[in-house]
Amino acid sequence: MDFKENMNAKVLEVNDIIEKYLPKIEGYQKTVIDAMHYSTMSNGKRVRAILMLETYRLFGGDSKVVEPFIAAIEMIHAYSLVHDDLPALDNDEYRRGKKSTHAEYGEAMGILCGDALLNYAFETVTKAFDIECSPRVAYAYKILATKAGINGMIGGQVVDVESEGNEIDADTMLYIHKNKTAALIEAAMMVGAILASANVKEIAKIESLASDVGLAFQIQDDILDIISSSEVLGKPVGSDDKNNKNTYVKYNGLDKSKEEVKTLSNRAVSTLDSLDDSNEFLNELIKSMINREK
Ligand code: IPE
Ligand code: IPE
Ligand code: MG
Ligand code: MG
Ligand code: MG
Repeated sequence: MDFKENMNAKVLEVNDIIEKYLPKIEGYQKTVIDAMHYSTMSNGKRVRAILMLETYRLFGGDSKVVEPFIAAIEMIHAYSLVHDDLPALDNDEYRRGKKSTHAEYGEAMGILCGDALLNYAFETVTKAFDIECSPRVAYAYKILATKAGINGMIGGQVVDVESEGNEIDADTMLYIHKNKTAALIEAAMMVGAILASANVKEIAKIESLASDVGLAFQIQDDILDIISSSEVLGKPVGSDDKNNKNTYVKYNGLDKSKEEVKTLSNRAVSTLDSLDDSNEFLNELIKSMINREK
């Protein structure tokens, strides 16, 4: 199997896991559950889920205890996109090749769907304790909660929105990117490592390389917002310009941004190579992100 076939197979593998853990579409509240399926089971790249699974495998993990976490991180990511697209935030009506959730279900249901996904993500993670009631599961839970919260993704989103149209310094710009995007990618890889009993040094290396991967990922997202098309991306281009966002590209220009994606990704691969264990697919996945087109 070449890398692309392998990647497609992993997407199907994690999609089955995510779908299995979503609630059944039934009951008085079924509109919101329908919206949860609509936003989570749409055509996402599943980067976070696959990074988690493959980091788990890198350290020899082979139990189903990782599955609730895989479902949960994609629920949290999906919620972040649903809320990010709301009129009060980026006001984008198109996501993953379909109408964004608030455009399909109305704004109230968009807000509630995001709330529901975030809450259900943590309800789902508690199912890992039924498989293995251990301190490492509790530690993984803590990392996921922290990196998704005010000292992670939400923190980044807050400063991203507050900074629209303002001049900000380089540190603030890095704060936005590292928190709104890299934090959840750090959580994905750290949870994989923790659940597979990686040691403290290994977990620290994973956090650092995931931070590089996450920053490169957001810089590339900013680049694609300028040079790609909505057909390829499945979401609007020019959204950052429309909202006067402080992106990496606005700050550093296209060429320097492209260089930075390469530098960060290569550094992430060397950190990965410095570990005793190896996972060739994970190396290739990180390298493939340098030239990703969507
Ligand atoms: C989009 O994430 C939002 C960012 C943090 C850049 P992805 O590019 O992973 O979106 P999907 O999941 O593939 O739709
Ligand atoms: C969003 O960054 C990061 C999130 C936490 C959702 P963007 O606003 O650039 O993501 P897209 O381009 O809408 O996917
Ligand atoms: Mg945004
Ligand atoms: Mg956005
Ligand atoms: Mg973007």
